[in-house]
Amino acid sequence: MNRTLGIFGALALLCTAPAAAQNLIPQPVSVEWGEGFVALIPYRVIEATHGELAPLADYLEGAIPGGRVRLTLDGASDLPAGGYRLTVAPERVVVAGRDYGGVWNGIQTLMQLFPAEVYSGSTGTPSAQFTLPVVTIEDWPAMEYRGVMLDVARTFVPKEQVMRLIDNIARHKINKFHWHLADDEGWRIEIKSYPRLTEIGAWRGGDSPVFPVYGEWDTKYGGFYTQDEIREVVAYAAVRGVEVIPEIDLPGHSRAAAIAYPEILCGYTPDLTASGGYDTRNVWCVAREENYAMLDSIIREVAALFPSKTFHLGGDEVETGAWRACPHCKALMAERGITDAARLQDIFMARVIEIAARHGKNAGVWNEAAAGGGIARSTTVWGWESLAAAKRVAADGYPTVVCAGEYFYFDMRQSPRDIGHIWAGIVTLEKVYSFSPAALGFTTAAQANLRGVEATLFHELGLENGPGYVDYQLFPRVCALAEVGWAPATRRSWDDFERRLTQRSPRPGGFDDAPSHLERLAAMGIAYRAAEPVPDPGLARLKTPAVSFTSSMTARERDPFSRVSGYSGAARTTRSVGEGDWLLWTFAEPVTASRIDIKTGYDHLQRGGVPVGRVEVSYDGSTFETAARMHDLKATLTPDRPVKAIRIVSESPYNGETFTIIQPLKIR
Ligand code: ACM
Ligand code: ZN
Repeated sequence: MNRTLGIFGALALLCTAPAAAQNLIPQPVSVEWGEGFVALIPYRVIEATHGELAPLADYLEGAIPGGRVRLTLDGASDLPAGGYRLTVAPERVVVAGRDYGGVWNGIQTLMQLFPAEVYSGSTGTPSAQFTLPVVTIEDWPAMEYRGVMLDVARTFVPKEQVMRLIDNIARHKINKFHWHLADDEGWRIEIKSYPRLTEIGAWRGGDSPVFPVYGEWDTKYGGFYTQDEIREVVAYAAVRGVEVIPEIDLPGHSRAAAIAYPEILCGYTPDLTASGGYDTRNVWCVAREENYAMLDSIIREVAALFPSKTFHLGGDEVETGAWRACPHCKALMAERGITDAARLQDIFMARVIEIAARHGKNAGVWNEAAAGGGIARSTTVWGWESLAAAKRVAADGYPTVVCAGEYFYFDMRQSPRDIGHIWAGIVTLEKVYSFSPAALGFTTAAQANLRGVEATLFHELGLENGPGYVDYQLFPRVCALAEVGWAPATRRSWDDFERRLTQRSPRPGGFDDAPSHLERLAAMGIAYRAAEPVPDPGLARLKTPAVSFTSSMTARERDPFSRVSGYSGAARTTRSVGEGDWLLWTFAEPVTASRIDIKTGYDHLQRGGVPVGRVEVSYDGSTFETAARMHDLKATLTPDRPVKAIRIVSESPYNGETFTIIQPLKIR
């Protein structure tokens, strides 16, 4: 076979063996490998046939080391939205998109034909070994909505890191970024008409009136995005074909807003004894008419910043106790003939959905908001609580985004030994990949209502695990999600996906192997989860000397203090820890130890323990001296003498819970 070398220059290579798979993720619809490889010209000639593609030409200019590429909207109008045709031939590369997003998607496939270094930001002269396979790819997504949600309320994520994440998900043809901007633990978006939302609501811990539930208690912590910063992120995402969907979680999950503007709460004085004096209410009053004027201003300002037609209004996990205790809400129930206070949520949601519509937006909600069936069927519903909940809303006729906890909550652990939550089980990579609406019993009618899938990262654990936590939880699970959204189950194979993810593919003709997808992630600088964590070998050698345990608090029957003294598990008290509360371990005999780890709160979650306090040690059983301070609900002692007793004295009035958990000591 004889090829013209063309503009790709002197190194066009004439191999007759078919190109081995290039480890493309997500798997395209159709790939026809041609014969041979094309060496790149060592400079870029990038041409866009339509003015609106200029941002993509600029992007590609900074992204590839060489080659002649045409970007066009011609020649793909027969494909579904997001579809593209990519042709790599000796004379040039053509990326023809059905639409802007289609061209973006084609560019991302093109980049996967390059060596992994293309992602490390070095766009210098290509080496002689730098070749592209001759290929024609025709491709389009199975699902219109392929999303990632990031909670920036529980852990604030600076603008630059949000943009980096958007870049990394867009490289996987993810086209929606759902930005969870307000929750109990923080309000993260500047609202000019209600400045206290961020002046007060964006900060917690230390002297902030917003108390922490997770993480640091004695340090003031937080942040928010100005409206200009939001615009900047939205524009950055738009270049990458990513629609940014804002979420303001209403009417529950609103403690930060309620601390900034307490008048939004129901009109009664709550009993604060269980919470050490803190007002923990977090639900907007349904009956207070002024609330809707305030929400109109908030929604108007947020709506103006986001070109997305969708505005997520929350609607999950509403604590209806406040409504039941509120004279105004009770009067509203009587007036409307409602007997179940939970149905006040339908009234509230209908009001805010109408406000969003007035500002040009279709509403989105979490699945509980649709449980009563009373909200408009034009509302997109995120089915999160379970697969069953997602099926229910889809069967009920709502456009549905599936983010069911047991498949797509990436704050769940990836193995029993990993960090993360567990309420929806262990969410392994293979579990994510196994999602298939047909195989999992979505009816044909329900499947027709599916908009797509979304990975969800709630972010309690970000503070304690640092900025790498987001990468660790999301990757490579996002790679599996990307393929679930892109390729129908009939075209997917776990074994093949795992191979493309982890193994290089040999390329004939003496050229470098095609990289594994994990190599691409590494080149992108993503701190992905590479393997299951190994157990701490020291844990097997823990000492368990005889000890008694007492406290100023009492334990509930199911979780007695004998667990702590027996080293068999955690004890749980009947109330929050308060100032001056103490926990006391007294050893039968003084204990010689190189290290003693003290932990309060949940085992794998920085929550429900003693947030601020001192750790005292006694060597004789009667006099105590301060040896450490509680930090992140824990402390470590390295005693230089045998220890007779250890006492924690709380300096914290409240821990954000109605209980306190105490773990057994770990003594080495
Ligand atoms: C949620 O996880 N509460 C939507
Ligand atoms: Zn009320």
